[in-house]
Amino acid sequence: MQALRLLLLFIFISMIAGCSSNQIEKVFNLNTENNLLSPDRLLVIAHRGASGYAPEHTISSYKLGESLGADYIEIDLQMTADQELIVMHDSDVNRTTDEKGSVKEYYLTQLKTFDAGSWFNRKYPGEAQTVFSEQKILSLKEIIDEFGKDANFYIETKTPEVYPKMVDELLKILEKAHLIGTGKLKGKVIIQSFSSKSLLSIKKREPSIPLVQLIDEEAKLHPKNLRDISEYAIGIGVPFEILDREKVKQIRRKGLLLHPYTVNKKEDMETLMDWGVTGMFTNYPDRLVEVREERNN
Ligand code: G3P
Ligand code: CA
Repeated sequence: MQALRLLLLFIFISMIAGCSSNQIEKVFNLNTENNLLSPDRLLVIAHRGASGYAPEHTISSYKLGESLGADYIEIDLQMTADQELIVMHDSDVNRTTDEKGSVKEYYLTQLKTFDAGSWFNRKYPGEAQTVFSEQKILSLKEIIDEFGKDANFYIETKTPEVYPKMVDELLKILEKAHLIGTGKLKGKVIIQSFSSKSLLSIKKREPSIPLVQLIDEEAKLHPKNLRDISEYAIGIGVPFEILDREKVKQIRRKGLLLHPYTVNKKEDMETLMDWGVTGMFTNYPDRLVEVREERNN
């Protein structure tokens, strides 16, 4: 038995010794193609779907986000009166439906009757499509049923302090869909939040989920804060306007991934790539895919 162990060890060492660093990456499955969270990748994150071309958080915008080549579809969460998670940015329905009121005052069945796309046709007549006026508010479960196999999910717990059951419900849904847990593709789901409390509670319960701390102002980029964040999160999301080359370097030196939001112009995408960010939230995923391809050629 001991001899067999030694033989296996010898074969393994010989295999590694003869490998280039690229081959070693393959042996350990660290290569950048397979590893969504590799710092060598530039992730394209479809912000609320391809929301520059279709009404945000609808099947249309998520389908388009996927077909335009995004690595992740980004999802904001709100919670209904009957404690169902829906995908919506605002805590009220005023901007993105033809109705009024807080999400938390409505039951899911009521919200499902709302028109979640005509506002887009009115606001952006150049992008308008008849199908957009047929879009409905989606529950998280519906998005996962529709896109669970193919897409990667970048999910934000929005104002979790207003919704004490949000994290419980989110983890329950992800577990039931077999999207989290040991043995799952690392990075299939990323959870992001402005609330460190929400992220820390997720970390405690499901330490394998990669977390991203969202930051809304430059003052929060100081070294002590970055150090603290690196204890529980793999990266940060920041408004791209507060970054410069030096800040990007400082953040990356702390070992944090850096995903600026919301970057819609190609010239800004190019500058941020030059500085070394590792992904971007964009309403126009096709633009970032093009910039990334131009760089790789
Ligand atoms: O999640 C990144 C970015 O989306 C944060 O801003 O307001 O668009 O959710 P917001
Ligand atoms: Ca968001």
